[in-house]
Amino acid sequence: VYPVDFEDFLDFVAKEEETKEFLDRLRKLAKKRGEFLYFAGGVVRDYLLFKKGKLNPQSSKDFDIVLEGNLEKFLQELNEDLNKEILFKSQFLTYKVRFFLDGEPLEVDFITARREVYEEIAQLPKVFPSNFMDDLLRRDFTINALAIGLSAPYEGLLLDLLDGLKDLEASLVKPLHLNSFVEDPTRIFRGIRYKVRLGFDFSEEFYQALEVCYQKEALKKLSSARLANELKLYLFKEGEEILLKLLETTYQLEVFKEAGLEVARENFPLLCEVLKEVKEEFSPKEREKVYFLGMVESLSGLERLGFSEVEITRIESLLNNFRGFYHKINTLSLKEKLEWFDKVRREYLCAFAVIFPELKEEIFRYLKVYSKVRPELNGEDLKKLGFRSGKEIGEILKILRLKRLEGKVKTKEDEIEFLKKFLVKNE
Ligand code: CTP
Repeated sequence: VYPVDFEDFLDFVAKEEETKEFLDRLRKLAKKRGEFLYFAGGVVRDYLLFKKGKLNPQSSKDFDIVLEGNLEKFLQELNEDLNKEILFKSQFLTYKVRFFLDGEPLEVDFITARREVYEEIAQLPKVFPSNFMDDLLRRDFTINALAIGLSAPYEGLLLDLLDGLKDLEASLVKPLHLNSFVEDPTRIFRGIRYKVRLGFDFSEEFYQALEVCYQKEALKKLSSARLANELKLYLFKEGEEILLKLLETTYQLEVFKEAGLEVARENFPLLCEVLKEVKEEFSPKEREKVYFLGMVESLSGLERLGFSEVEITRIESLLNNFRGFYHKINTLSLKEKLEWFDKVRREYLCAFAVIFPELKEEIFRYLKVYSKVRPELNGEDLKKLGFRSGKEIGEILKILRLKRLEGKVKTKEDEIEFLKKFLVKNE
């Protein structure tokens, strides 16, 4: 147990004055109820790294608060004088709560200090309320098993029961015990994220725990939903900048193989590049599709990532069609190419750019330029010009777009001029 500069820590956790006041309220309530409230995990780890100059301060670090006590009653009592909304209550004795402090929303994860019992390999644990020691002992890595007390009896004190401080100093990702990844194989992915994000190394024990996990084939038993979720965190939590390192590290540790997921390693660099390029433009759902489609060795591998059979079959037939297109692309006119591209959703096209690297330029020209070019005349204008059926109008708009792309029309007047000639020709 070590003292910390408590004010400084609270400044790190709570940027706003209202948040600090809010924490003080929590502290007083814990005191009144005789329950121990503390910070653990990410926020403590990041604060200590920040103090060592190894991490930039984060602007809005969300935080978890752990209570050694009865969280339901604690939150009920808190309710009496605070405007709040419980967003989510989990089976693991945790609550996500949104407070309104002076109208500003603040989301906090409240966690009951707990013990975990893993009855089956790679399945979620049963949890039981317990004391802070059990709560630190149930965690993934020593660097995450550090706590700072917010209320008595350890107010303003750093609790380091498992030598987390030493490992933080040595930049090591070390599991608490060798069965850790058998119990919860998602910790392997978490460990990889810490290593890459923080620039740490794996400890000897990390490799040993991995070995035990592989022997027991625990990764194979991890559900598709949980596996996909961990991989999504690489992209959505860690981001495109370090994605390649994360995927490479995962590959080198043979995690994909052990998880029963065949990946196309040679795709990784291009996949990451493509994901960077569409980051701003694509929705998360679209980016996820590109990511998973571009990652697997063959589309059947998508099953391990939770894709339905129907969806896989649909994508397979699309890919087969696209192969036909790919083989004759050099013989096709711009119009014919556009016809192909227009038929395929952009997230699939983007994934095809990874699967057929030779087509990357062409596909991206379509995504970034061609698909955005629109005629100035719209459907209404065309109706006024005498075009009737929706199908006809659709065709005309496509022709106008093509003429624009070919540089044959540049303005609205050009478009009208072109159409007049076009009508005469077709009469
Ligand atoms: N934890 C764990 N095993 C898991 C998931 C979480 O032991 N499979 C523990 C870790 O101690 C972790 C804490 O729960 O510190 C909170 O988890 P999470 O919010 O996912 O991570 P953070 O520690 O906040 O770290 P970060 O978000 O920065 O990755």
